[in-house]
Amino acid sequence: MSDKILRLENVVRDFKRQTEVIHAVKGVSLEFERGTFNILCGRSGSGKTTLLNMVAAIDPPTSGKIYFEEHDITGMSSAERDDIRRRKIGIIFQNTALIAQMSAIENVEFALSIAGVPASKRREQAIEWLDMMGIRERRNHMPAEMSGGEQARVAIGRALAHSPVLLLADEPTSELDSRTSFRVIDMFKDLVTKKDLTIVMTTHDVNIMDAADHIFTMEDGVIIDAK
Ligand SMILES: Nc1ncnc2c1ncn2[C@@H]1O[C@H](COP(=O)(O)OP(=O)(O)OP(=O)(O)O)[C@@H](O)[C@H]1O
Ligand SMILES: [Mg+2]
Repeated sequence: MSDKILRLENVVRDFKRQTEVIHAVKGVSLEFERGTFNILCGRSGSGKTTLLNMVAAIDPPTSGKIYFEEHDITGMSSAERDDIRRRKIGIIFQNTALIAQMSAIENVEFALSIAGVPASKRREQAIEWLDMMGIRERRNHMPAEMSGGEQARVAIGRALAHSPVLLLADEPTSELDSRTSFRVIDMFKDLVTKKDLTIVMTTHDVNIMDAADHIFTMEDGVIIDAK
């Protein structure tokens, strides 16, 4: 039995600016099966981040429907969308978006707290993830006191710490050296096979694409290739 965790039906996103309208996503229909590793690629400006933000229930589409676990997230209130995102979805933004006033470990603990993890369990779980990302010794550093790659690894740990069922990752390895990025991708694949995690990830790195179950190519707001 196939289990489609995510379904997009003719999703459109227009951005209106003064007199112009930018058609960033022009009618995308896609399905993602649970427990698969999916890559979204395409040139800069093709609409990848815009699409991920809609799937993350952060940005509503101009038209079209998005179903997450058969629930239409486009028809939900913002409180309902927040709830789904916090409990079930892990997000790695293109620019890591760590909270600058919080240390590495506090950033991860904060994500755990909004996901509803009890206070008594947060520290241990946060350390475990920072350890997994190889940055345990940097746990008390503020974002400004870490390298770009270290910040990226905190962001990855933060996105995964609450055990989401869906990980949306926007170029999560762009700040990492090739060895570290392969380690991260191996860990992602492991979570997909062992925990049934579904990943939708953008990347420009052709070396990573081999790891994916499916590759979708975007161009000018539409999907031009799926394999
Ligand atoms: N808030 C916005 N207002 C107006 N235009 C926007 C907005 N966000 C994105 N765009 C435009 O929509 C198009 C798609 O942008 P998007 O960020 O989705 O591209 P991308 O595929 O993620 O590119 P990159 O690989 O550079 O990250 C671009 O032409 C961009 O300029
Ligand atoms: Mg982008």
